[in-house]
Parts: sequence; structure tokens; C-alpha cells
Amino acid sequence: MNWPALPLAAAVGLATVAVDASSILSCAGAYDHDSNKILMIGWRGLNSDACLYETVEDARVTMTAYLWNNVMVYDIPRAISLGFSPSANSASDTNVIAVEEQRKLQSLQTQPCIDGLSDGILNQTLHYSLLAKSIYPWADALPKDVFMEYVVPFAVANEPRTDYRQLLFDSLRDSLKEWERSLDANQIMSGEEVQTSMKQAVKVINTRLWSILGKPNKPIVFNAGLTPRIYDPLSVIAYGHSSCTGLAILLIAALRSVGIAARLAGSPAWWGDADNGNHSWVEVFLPGEDGGKWIFLEPTPGIAEGDEDTADADDLDRDPCKRWFCHSSRFNGTTRVYATMYTKSESSLFHPMAWGVGDEGVVGVNRSDYYTGVCGACL
Ligand SMILES: *[C@@H]1O[C@H](CO)[C@@H](O)[C@H](O)[C@H]1NC(C)=O
Ligand SMILES: *[C@@H]1O[C@H](CO)[C@@H](O)[C@H](O)[C@H]1NC(C)=O
Ligand SMILES: *[C@@H]1O[C@H](CO)[C@@H](O)[C@H](O)[C@H]1NC(C)=O
Ligand SMILES: *[C@@H]1O[C@H](CO)[C@@H](O)[C@H](O)[C@H]1NC(C)=O
Repeated sequence: MNWPALPLAAAVGLATVAVDASSILSCAGAYDHDSNKILMIGWRGLNSDACLYETVEDARVTMTAYLWNNVMVYDIPRAISLGFSPSANSASDTNVIAVEEQRKLQSLQTQPCIDGLSDGILNQTLHYSLLAKSIYPWADALPKDVFMEYVVPFAVANEPRTDYRQLLFDSLRDSLKEWERSLDANQIMSGEEVQTSMKQAVKVINTRLWSILGKPNKPIVFNAGLTPRIYDPLSVIAYGHSSCTGLAILLIAALRSVGIAARLAGSPAWWGDADNGNHSWVEVFLPGEDGGKWIFLEPTPGIAEGDEDTADADDLDRDPCKRWFCHSSRFNGTTRVYATMYTKSESSLFHPMAWGVGDEGVVGVNRSDYYTGVCGACL
């Protein structure tokens, strides 16, 4: 594929790129390794043959507006402490919700922040999402709407909100060194290279995350029945264990922190009956010529240093039928599966949470047909 000429700092706008049918368009921005400074953000638009370039400041405004326009109900009362500010969020977006939420936000701001730390976790979230996009090539192959929806958000479901993005970004950087964009910034990757490198990165993360974030010789492990006690990323790291939901949320947070789009998937009730139990796992967006697709994997906790090869962590290339729950006996038409979303505008569905029955605060997407098709074929 041809590469767009690197835009000068002042030249924001659209650039049309010739893409052949077998390529995935990547829209790299500009990043200065010496100063560790992002100079320009490149977005892949909905129109797949155009790149949109914007300044970091403009990108931050767009991202903040997106997060605020779709903010989850849990986050409204403490919006100010999360880093939303009434003046910064006056989105030009014509979202009806925005007006109502905007009013709520303004009513919350009763006093100025006294310690000067008024940017909560929002600034870190925006900063590291853009930094990840600037150094990891796979992030440029994500359509802008997918990046906004599944990389930028600071929340996966209703877990406690904490400032984990920098910690996860920094913790994984050494393990992902070989994929960092080289100094001659605009290296060209074919669609296949983007997919391959992203899948390799997912495997490395699902292999090493548990020991990197664990205590010496004590990787993070699985322990049953801990949701909703221990299920936000920092609690899982501090305790060193969690059950399926907490481990899935930690893996999703880690993937997002390096620019990989990920979301929580799960069934609140096997065969439609909560007495049969429930399960959560992870879906990852794989960009592709066909517009891309969501595929799934399971966290593989408990891998200690030195055990990486024998443990053979789950990855995106694995035959779906190799996962314990992915079998026709479990997907005979009665099991429902949902995945989490962030935007409020596209779906009226909520993500049912086995640990929060009746809580409709997380938007969901119905994945039942996908899993019934894929796992229903596993004999
Ligand atoms: C946002 O976070 C980055 C990274 O930690 C930091 O360098 C910058 O000063 C922060 N900006 C504000 C306005 O706090
Ligand atoms: C969800 O499943 C876990 C074990 O997998 C179980 O401990 C928990 O009680 C289940 N929750 C509900 C609401 O069924
Ligand atoms: C699906 O499997 C469950 C558990 O074995 C069984 O109770 C149910 O009758 C099956 N439903 C159909 C439609 O086959
Ligand atoms: C999800 O999809 C399944 C299969 O198409 C359907 O039976 C179920 O009613 C849907 N769930 C909701 C909440 O719409």
C-alpha cells in the first residue's frame, strides 16, 4: 500500500490514501522518540480510504467529549473527581444525552479543586491511549470508532474506577519493545503484518502479565468466587488473585493500555439458568480487510517466569473449540452471551452482570448468535 506523506504539524485534515484490496489502511500520526512527544494523531475514518489528522489537543477534546457523552451512570456523581470538567466538555456533538449530562455536570461543580489535581484519572487515560497509538502500529489499523469505544474508556463494566493505565502501559513496555514503531516513524505494514503483530502481542501479554504484575515468584492466580469483591485491575494486582471476571477485566485493561481494542464477554447463566453458573472472558478486535471482527480468548493466569513455553497461554489463533466452555453441549440454543460496550447511542441493550443482577448501567451487545454458531459446532 502507499503511505500518506507525513503531515506537518500545521497540516491537519484529510488525506486520501490508495489502498489495495488486500491491505488494511493504517493511519500513523507522528511521534518524536527523543522528546517522547506526540506531534500529530492519525485516525482511520469510517471511510476506509481516508486518514484524518488532528493535533493532540483536538484529539483530547474529541475523546473527552466521547467519554462524557456516553458516561456510565455510576460515574456521573463523581464526574469531577474522575477529571471531567464542565468547561472542557462543551462538546459540539449534537448528542441529546450530552445536554442533560452537561447540566448534571455543571450542577456538581460547587467549588474549585483545592489541591490543584483537578484532572482525576481522565488525563492519564487520554495521555496513554494516545501514546500507545503513537508507538504501537496495530493501533493505527483500528477504525476511529473502535478505538474510541474499546481502547479509550477508563471502565469496562461497573468495577471501581482507578488509575491503572500508566502502570499497565509502563509494565508492558519492555515486553513489547520489538513491535514499537521504529525511529523512521512511518514504517509500512501490510494487513497481514498488522494482524500477526497484534496477535503476537496479545499472546505475550496473556503470558507475561501475571508474573510482571505479580509479586516475586508469585504470579497472579485464579481464585473462585471473588466478584464483586476483587475485580478491578488494581485490586486484582494488590491481592494477587481474582476469579474469571476480575482476570478478564485486568487483561482487557492491559490490552487497552497498549492500544488493542478489547471488551468483556460472558454468559450470565449457562443454558439460561443462573443455577448452572456463569462465566466471563475476553474479546479482542482484529482489524481486517472485511472491516474487522471480534474474536475471543481466555486469560491464562498463574504463569511464572520461566514457565512461559510450557504454560502456552491462550491466544487468538487457537481453535475456539479448545476452550472448555466452547462446546455444542453448552451452546445448544439456550445459552445467551453478551459483551460490553461504552456508547449509549447505538444499543438499548444492557450487559447482564451475574454479580449485579438487575443493574442495567453497562451497555451490551448480544453475542449469542456468534457463540451459538462457533461453539455450537464444537463436538
Ligand atoms: C497529563 O498526564 C501526562 C502524563 O502523566 C502529564 O505529563 C501531563 O502533565 C498531564 N497533564 C495535565 C494537564 O495534568
Ligand atoms: C457466578 O458463577 C460463580 C462461579 O462460577 C458463582 O460463584 C456465582 O455464585 C455465580 N453467580 C450467580 C449470580 O449465579
Ligand atoms: C440444552 O442442554 C441442556 C443441558 O443439557 C438441556 O437441559 C436442554 O434441554 C437442552 N436444550 C435443547 C433445546 O436441546
Ligand atoms: C440475544 O440474542 C438471542 C439469539 O438471537 C435472542 O434469543 C435473545 O432474545 C437476545 N437477547 C436480548 C436481550 O435481546
